[in-house]
Amino acid sequence: MSLVHFVYGFIFISLFLLWKLINACYISPVRTLQKLRSNGLGGPTPKFPLGNLSDMKQMLIKAKSLSSSLSLSSSSSESISHDIHSSSLPYFAQWKKLHGKVYVYWMGVEPFLYIADPEFLKQMSGSVLAKNWGKPNVFRNDRIPMFGDYGLNMIEGNTWARHRHIINPAFSSTNLKVMANSMVESTTKMITQWTTLLTNSSKLELDMEKEVTTLAGEIIAKTNFGINSELGNVLLEKLRSMQISLFKHTRYVGVPYGHLLTMGQTLEARKLGQEIDEILLSIINSRRKVIGVEPQHDLLGLLLEGEEDNRVDGQFVKKLTTRELVDECKTFFFGGHETVALSMTWTLMLLAMYPKWQDELRKEIEEVIGEKDEIDFTMLAGLKKMGWVFNEVLRLYPSSPNAQRQARSDIQVGNVVIPNGTNIWIDVVGMHHDRTLWGDDVNEFKPERFDGDLYGGCKHKMGYMPFGFGGRMCIGKNYALMEYKIVMSLILRRFSFTVAPSYHHSPTYFFSFRPGSGVPLIVKPL
Ligand code: HEM
Repeated sequence: MSLVHFVYGFIFISLFLLWKLINACYISPVRTLQKLRSNGLGGPTPKFPLGNLSDMKQMLIKAKSLSSSLSLSSSSSESISHDIHSSSLPYFAQWKKLHGKVYVYWMGVEPFLYIADPEFLKQMSGSVLAKNWGKPNVFRNDRIPMFGDYGLNMIEGNTWARHRHIINPAFSSTNLKVMANSMVESTTKMITQWTTLLTNSSKLELDMEKEVTTLAGEIIAKTNFGINSELGNVLLEKLRSMQISLFKHTRYVGVPYGHLLTMGQTLEARKLGQEIDEILLSIINSRRKVIGVEPQHDLLGLLLEGEEDNRVDGQFVKKLTTRELVDECKTFFFGGHETVALSMTWTLMLLAMYPKWQDELRKEIEEVIGEKDEIDFTMLAGLKKMGWVFNEVLRLYPSSPNAQRQARSDIQVGNVVIPNGTNIWIDVVGMHHDRTLWGDDVNEFKPERFDGDLYGGCKHKMGYMPFGFGGRMCIGKNYALMEYKIVMSLILRRFSFTVAPSYHHSPTYFFSFRPGSGVPLIVKPL
């Protein structure tokens, strides 16, 4: 090849790459924006290349300093505000006032259709099948270390339908019944530890976030994977470190080449992800050796059981490949403990703030369960008020504060066309804290709003969705409710809780809503 050909070739390739870059960073987003704007959708003005990311950061800093100066000026627990939408997601709260409940904002060069309008959501979800929803490609980099490529919440299309079909039976009531015993056992162990700590004193200060997260980790390790608490703790620690390296620092999501700015954190997260994979793989391999000897009731056992004779159209197909199994284990380990742990953490904080509800629940536990050491799965349905408290906690502090989607074809919602490829951000917290849907007491803790009403009096059924919507609704909902009721019943029977003076209320959005500096509570034996 002559030098002239080489130079022409080089220029051609460079121009082609430059065109691709300009197209991805400018032309394509502007086209999508124009399409969305032509439907009458407004939103904050983006600035290249960060979109609205720097506005979001500034608004958050301002809101945080405002809420910490308010909480410093008053130390009583009555001054704690549950309006986490304004304090922790101030950009969404402010843009909602300016642009309505459906608008477009930008993360880097990626437009996001923001939705906090339940009627719009109802119409949109009504026209898309669960398996046809996509998850935003722009988040894949962050999510893969946590859920792998094949975790249930990452996959789409027929692969998602196949996984969901295979996993569903693991959460049948027969299996849940068996799992209940493990939950009682782990909680009793924690109670014994607290009782030992209390032998020489009448009260104890404990960080409830730490306590219940460890407990929920142990429970998921046993009930889903049949592994001991030591190995469960190793996995838990690694998952926590991974989350910190992924989300503690500013991410430049949607910013062209933004991942290069956080390369160190991404590599650290991937390394931890691989270490977790190796541990899970060794658990899977040792379980494979004993499959067929005893009936399997945990998630892993059920996924492995029968994998050798699973036939479709006469052809042998493995239920799930080893890669898929590892990713599902990681997904369930993560999704199955953090969400429940957070719901229990916020519950204990709220019960400590509202002792009336502690007494109400204790009375109900006494009537339904009494002093029995074994908790029968069927008794739990009798804990009605506890169900209202669970619902109210998930309304005020949802463990899954948002849902994200990506359109995989044009979606018609009334007069609006959401173009193929549009990222969608459903603001669950925004809907749960919307005064027009709930009334003036929207930011108050009032479990009784769920008395006889599954939607807590919300004016629109899709305005309350702690477990998601449609076919992609949480697969672990019944498991979560069972664990919550068992743990709460056992500990409320034995201890009372008050807010420790050192508690600082600062719910922080960190993938989910977690306490900014733990939840120290004063624990007293009853
Ligand atoms: C209080 C506890 C929980 C809450 C609030 C919660 C909430 C949610 C929500 C909102 C979704 C839908 C996300 C979306 O639409 O993108 C979801 C999905 C999911 N949840 Fe949960 N969850 C909880 C407990 C659990 C537990 C205990 C497990 C497993 C044992 C679990 C496993 C999953 C999985 C695998 C998905 C993905 C389902 C799919 O895409 O088909 N969750 N959860």
